[in-house]
Formats: sequence, C-alpha cells, structure tokens
Amino acid sequence: MMDLFSEIEEPEREEIRALRKELEEANYKYYVLNMPTLSDREFDEKMHRLQALEAQFPDMFDPKSPTQHVGSDLQRDKVQGTKGKAFETVKHKYPMLSLANSYSREEIEEWVRKLPSGVEIVCELKYDGLSISLWYEKGVLVKALTRGDGQQGDNVIDNIKTIPSIPWKIEREDVPAFFELRGEVLLPWERFEALNKEREEQEEPLFANPRNAASGTLKLQDPREVARRGLDAYLYYMIGENLPGNTHFERLSTAKEWGFHISDAIKVCHSVDEVMAYIAYWDTERKNLPVATDGIVLKVNNLAQQEELGYTAKTPRWAIAYKFPAEKQLTLLKEITYQVGRTGVVTPVANLEPVQLSGTMVQRATLHNEDFIKSLDIRPGDKVWVEKGGEIIPKIVGRADRNDEMSATSSLNDEMMYSFPTTCPECGAELVRVEGEAAWRCPNETGCPPQIKGKIEHFVSRKAMNIDGLGEETIDLFYQKGLLKNIADLYDLKLEDIAAQERLGEKSAQNILDGIEASKQVPWARVLFALGIRMVGETTAKKIAKKYNTIDTLMWATAEQLCAIEDVGPQIAENIVKYFEDIRNLELLDRLRKAGLQMEGEAAPEPTSDKLAGMSIVISGTFAHHSRDEYKAIIEQNGGKNVGSVSKKTSFILAGENMGPEKRKKAEDLGIRLVTEEEFLEMMN
Ligand code: IVH
Repeated sequence: MMDLFSEIEEPEREEIRALRKELEEANYKYYVLNMPTLSDREFDEKMHRLQALEAQFPDMFDPKSPTQHVGSDLQRDKVQGTKGKAFETVKHKYPMLSLANSYSREEIEEWVRKLPSGVEIVCELKYDGLSISLWYEKGVLVKALTRGDGQQGDNVIDNIKTIPSIPWKIEREDVPAFFELRGEVLLPWERFEALNKEREEQEEPLFANPRNAASGTLKLQDPREVARRGLDAYLYYMIGENLPGNTHFERLSTAKEWGFHISDAIKVCHSVDEVMAYIAYWDTERKNLPVATDGIVLKVNNLAQQEELGYTAKTPRWAIAYKFPAEKQLTLLKEITYQVGRTGVVTPVANLEPVQLSGTMVQRATLHNEDFIKSLDIRPGDKVWVEKGGEIIPKIVGRADRNDEMSATSSLNDEMMYSFPTTCPECGAELVRVEGEAAWRCPNETGCPPQIKGKIEHFVSRKAMNIDGLGEETIDLFYQKGLLKNIADLYDLKLEDIAAQERLGEKSAQNILDGIEASKQVPWARVLFALGIRMVGETTAKKIAKKYNTIDTLMWATAEQLCAIEDVGPQIAENIVKYFEDIRNLELLDRLRKAGLQMEGEAAPEPTSDKLAGMSIVISGTFAHHSRDEYKAIIEQNGGKNVGSVSKKTSFILAGENMGPEKRKKAEDLGIRLVTEEEFLEMMN
C-alpha cells in the first residue's frame, strides 16, 4: 500500500519542486532583471497550482517557497542606489589563493621532482577570466564571492545568477550539506568582441581583453546589463567537508554529474612527457575555444597527497600553472593609413599582409600615435611583429631588422624616415597637437566629415538618446544628402525627406521620427552624455548632471567648480568650459532646447554642513559601521569630495580594515594622514 501511495504522490511532489524553481526564477527575472519570462497570467496560474499542491502536501511546507513571500526587488533598489552598499563583503571559508607560474619543461620537471614518486597529475586549461567561489547550502546557491583580497570577497550572486550554466539549485538527494565550487567567470570571445564594437561606436574606452571585460561586468550594479553581456563560467575546484571522492578528478566528475559546467579538456597524466604533449596540443587547439585561456594548470590528483603537500603563504604546493607564450607573428606592413575619430583624434593604423593570430585573421593593427611609430622607427615596407596577447586589439610590438639597417642613419635614409601627416586626411585642415597629449587632432569639428558623422552616431546611440533606425550607413546617407549636418538637424527632419531616400520607405521613416520624438523624454544626464563633450563619458555625465541639475547652471560653472565633482579632473573641466564657450555649441543647444529636449534633472541634495568643505578624501578598506557608499554620501553631505586615488592633493584617507598595501605605501610616501573609521565618525559627530 505504502509503495502504491508514494508512487501516486511522487509526480506531484516533483511538480511542487519544479514550480517553486520556475516561479523563483521568474520572480528574479521579473524583479531583478526586468526581463519577464512569463506573462502575468501564466505566472498567476502557476502560482495557484503551486498553492493548491502545497495545500495537498502540507509536509512539503517550505517558508522559502514563492507562495510564502513576495518577489523581492531588493536588488533593484540596490541598483538605484537607495539601499547603500552595492555588494556584501564576505570572508572566505577557505582563502582563495593564486598559483605559482612556470614557463618551460624544466620548470615543470623541477616541480614534479618535489612530488611523491608515481604521482598522478591532472592537466586542465587555465581559463583567463576571474575567479569565483560558489557556495551551495543544501544544494542551493547561497553566495557567489569574488576573490577580493583572497581572504574576503564581494558577494555578486545576483550577477552570477545571470549565467545560464550555473545551477541555482542541485535537485538531488545526495548533495552534501555544504560545498564550494570554484571556477572562472569569462566573457566568451564573441560576446567580448560585440561589446567592444558597441563601445567603440559610442567612443567609450574599450576593454583590453575578455578578462577585464568580465571583471568590469561582474562588478556592475545592474544584473540586467550583466545578463545582456552574456558571461559564462567554467568550474575547476570543489572544496568542503565530507565531500565524495578521493581524487580531484573524481570530484570534478561528480560536479559534472550534478550539472556543473566542467571542461572536457581535463586529463590525468602520469609523466612529464604526457603533460608536455597535453600542453603542445592545447597551445594550438585553444585558438578554437570560445573563451580565452592563457595556460594550463597542473594539479596533484590524489586529495590525501594534496593535503600532505599543503600550501605556501600564497599558493598550493600541489598545483602549478604553465603559461603559454604570447602569440606573435612577423608580417609585412603594407601601408599606414589614418582614422579620424568623433573627437578629431587622428590614429595611425597599420595595414598588414593578413596573418593568422590567436584564432583570427589580422590585417589591421593600431600604431597608437606618432611617438610610437618613431620610437620603433617603423616605415611601410617593413616586416613588423604583431602580437595579440592580453590585449585583443592587435598591436605592433617591434620590427625585423632591415637589410639596409647599417646605413639607416645616413642622411639619405633620413629622407625615408616616417613623418606624421600635417593635414587631416579627411578634410585637409591643419592638424594640431595639444601640449602634453600624444595625439594629433583635426580641429575642424564642424567641417570634418568623420567628426560630424561620429558626433551624430554618438548622439543617437543606445546609451545616449537611443534613437533607433539611424545606423552608420543611414547617417552617412543623410549627411551626403545634406539632411544632417549636426545633431540639432535631427529634430528638423521631415517624413517626406526621409521617405524619399533610397532604401527607406514611409514605415522606416516614421520609425526614425518616432525614435526622435521619444528622445525628447531622455533624461538630462543622458542628454549631457549625448552632446559628446570630450572625455565626458556616461558615468561622468551622470555625476555632473547630479551636481548641476540644469544646463544653465552647468554652462556658467568654472573649471575649479567642476573639479569638485568626483571623477572630474582639470582636463575634463577644461573641455566642458571650452564646450560652452563655443558659440556654435550654444546655437546647437538653443535649437535642442527649442526642440524640447530635457535639459533639467532632479536637484541634488544640498550639503548639510561644510565640515569637509574643500577636502578631497580617499576611502579605502572595509568598514564595520557603514558601507562605503554611505561614507561617500556622508562626505558629500558635509561638503567634501570623495576621490578614487591618493595624490598629494588628498586631504586624508578614511582607512578601514585591510586597506590596500599600495594605497598605504603611497599615503606614507606623501605623508597623508590615515583617519580610522571611529575617528571619522567622531569628526562627523
Ligand atoms: S585552481 C588553489 N584551476 O588562475 C588553486 N585555477 O593564476 C585554485 N585559473 O586564481 C586555482 N583556470 O582564477 C585553477 N583550471 C584552473 C584554472 C585556475 C584558471 C585561475 C584562478 C586562479 C588563477 C591563478
């Protein structure tokens, strides 16, 4: 009888578990990511079904069931900054160490000599992302900690939950009460390249490599943006008490059975020869992987042997990394061409005989600026070394000797020396080089086509005015046809003018006009970013707009006043002042205002005291009484400025626990006072 009953009950119990999981995920996607996956109706139907089933099986009552609590928008509050500190700092249960590096067979042999004889070595790929520690309690993901300083890290669980391959819950009876899975969070190449392309279009600084991009992404406050970027993770280490298996390999196989993303490239080796064969294979094959790798990791397989070998202060003795050499190729520099950006910077570009490098065909590489070219004495016709190591935009790192090298210093050869153009390759204007800057710039802001089009492209881009339907090609077309010469012209576009263009019918014309109309609601901070003032990126624009809540007050701000804003240094301040001094910009702004753009935002709270007026304060370390964000707010409320790095202008450092050693050293060198959390609170009453 019993058996019969449990057989009848089982599907419903399963259904309860599945519904709880589904509703929990739906809540997260709805409240945190703002990307609903179920319609309200579907959600309600499922919730009712779950309520009915839970009433039928009271022994399955769980206070954490979605029927027992409302979907939490906690993270959403955090995103908007109303709940103070962004991430919880958590002490690691086991410190997160790093690995000793090796670069040759000899170094690997030396490591192996110190191991017990006959030891089994597991070879794995070394993923080039950032490490994460996932905590599972009763099979449920409860924390996801970054490495932090190795002793404590940030809990970035809401961002980690956007990674589809990381299970939120292991639906098995046999999972241990607690375990930690460690691994690497990565931004796959494809996603990385798409992200950088987007950033390039918006003239935002590019991420040098997928690791930096993954790290920047994981620290974002908005899980929706994290989800959009598409992180992935590979897991490579299970740790905890009373876990199954006696070897590392067994543990990873178990983790794989539990649904974790474990690489297939793991191999148990018994000799250095085998290890070297693994290395040789993957040094080539890794170019076909979807994610970045920078070496391999060798680990003693047997866990008892691991324990016996133990740890040094920073690294396990039972593991070592082998780093692949950075990939370099020699190829012909056919020609140097020049690219003019939205702000007029002229960048020299090496046009190369195409060459295969780290899995992609490279035919263009940046030559940075005139000084770089001169320092390597590079000329068209040279054979140059191209590298695609940590940085993903290929770069020239050297040149091969020329046959005529010996006579290269003769006056005859001097004539062949490279010289940077003196006029703009696009509009012919005379280039200028601002003192202290490496770049040559075309000053013809309103007459140089790539600058005009670049400014319009930036203005309409997603993070700026977000006007759909106006891609690079359409803007080029409108520019050619004389419809667009500046950003204000957008608001004078007529349906018939657009619809009359090739490839554009009435429907797309209407779409464009709708997008332009909608842009009139874009908030002031984004309008300010959209104007494209040099060096005023999205974040800086937000900070400026917070302080200057109307364009009229900003227009009259002095460089000195602007410098009081976090992130605004003298250079940015000067760019802003210059922007508003230019009559052409004032005319543009007048037209934009008349068109109905938002040039006002919410007023920033006034400081409540001037105890810290004129002071620049660095916050460093971790704190017991308030979060960093709260301290930042306290500083601002009292008229002070919170700055990121220590300089001789720093008034003092609000120093918490575990202050970074570099900051401490710099403070000591510059004689800057460290104020403890308690002292600071006393100062502020
Ligand atoms: S094991 C106690 N295995 O490399 C040692 N680390 O340079 C735990 N990494 O911090 C690390 N792939 O972020 C291990 N297959 C792999 C790895 C790996 C990448 C990273 C990890 C570590 C860093 C050390």
